[in-house]
Amino acid sequence: IHHVENMSLVIPIWSSDTRLDGKTAIVTGGNSGIGKETARDLAGRGARVILACRDTTKGEQVACDIMKEVKGAKVVTKQLDLADTKSICQFAENIYNTEKTLHYLINNAAVAMCPYARTVDGYEMQFGVNHLGHFFLTFLLLDLLKHSAPSRVINLASSAHVFGKIQFDDLKGEKKYHPVRAYAQSKLANILFTRELAKRTEVLGVMAYSVDPGLVNTDIFRHVWRPLVDMIKTFGFVVRTPAEGAYTTIYCTVTPENQLITGGYYSNCSRAESSRAGQDDGTALKLWAVSCHLLGIRWR
Ligand SMILES: NC(=O)c1ccc[n+]([C@@H]2O[C@H](COP(=O)([O-])OP(=O)(O)OC[C@H]3O[C@@H](n4cnc5c(N)ncnc54)[C@H](OP(=O)(O)O)[C@@H]3O)[C@@H](O)[C@H]2O)c1
Repeated sequence: IHHVENMSLVIPIWSSDTRLDGKTAIVTGGNSGIGKETARDLAGRGARVILACRDTTKGEQVACDIMKEVKGAKVVTKQLDLADTKSICQFAENIYNTEKTLHYLINNAAVAMCPYARTVDGYEMQFGVNHLGHFFLTFLLLDLLKHSAPSRVINLASSAHVFGKIQFDDLKGEKKYHPVRAYAQSKLANILFTRELAKRTEVLGVMAYSVDPGLVNTDIFRHVWRPLVDMIKTFGFVVRTPAEGAYTTIYCTVTPENQLITGGYYSNCSRAESSRAGQDDGTALKLWAVSCHLLGIRWR
């Protein structure tokens, strides 16, 4: 890993020529931003890449672009709306019908800092999509990941998790809703989910990592006050391109397992420390139980 130092900020310039021929990866939200660049990179390494998108027209356009740019790329698009458990079930069923293996599940999609909204199933949108949707998707695809072991689940979190707290008494955000706090809560949930998942699946050969991609110039800020976004972007040197934003995800995908720590949080293509709340195993366990309860599933 080479680092470009820019004042106090360090942007890693990382590269690896590891091939992924014969491997299959799912990238949720693969039609945009970091997910799109992750998909492009993995396809270039020879992996079969499934773009799991709520808007398949956008997904198919991206699949077409990647296949034009990357010779021999194998990219397909499948419909997935993480705000709807029925859609998640249909997506998983489709995967079991079409795929013999799944080596990398990259839980990348997210909605950020949106006005109060609910998923089809009635959960607060950011907690529902970013955490519960991916939790449920991973639950449904675990058999295939186990069957394909060694395999990995990579959850896109964010340094914004440091502002997060899991509001167990108000997970639907009905008492008090703040868009930034709700985003931070969902990103903290991604880290806690990764820790607890890793404990349960390491023996099965399924490793789990959470990733902070850094501050990246994507559509994620679509709900944020425009002048603030423009102000952040004028400090261009601190904002990464989507391709740079994908580095740590790709790092966690291709780095040999013995050089990574399952359950760990990664940033700038290396191991990082999450907040204390992100290391709280009691909260992680409680979140696991509550998530199972909300989704009506048994996942021991
Ligand atoms: N950009 C940053 O600075 C930054 C910083 C820290 C962490 N992250 C994390 O990085 C990840 C990727 O974000 P990004 O920056 O690449 O943002 P992005 O370009 O806005 O991509 C988000 C993706 O999530 C998809 N999505 C949203 N709701 C969905 C749903 N209900 N079902 C399925 N897909 C859904 C979007 O689909 P549509 O195109 O249809 O909306 C889009 O493809 C996120 O987990 C984000 O939290 C980003």
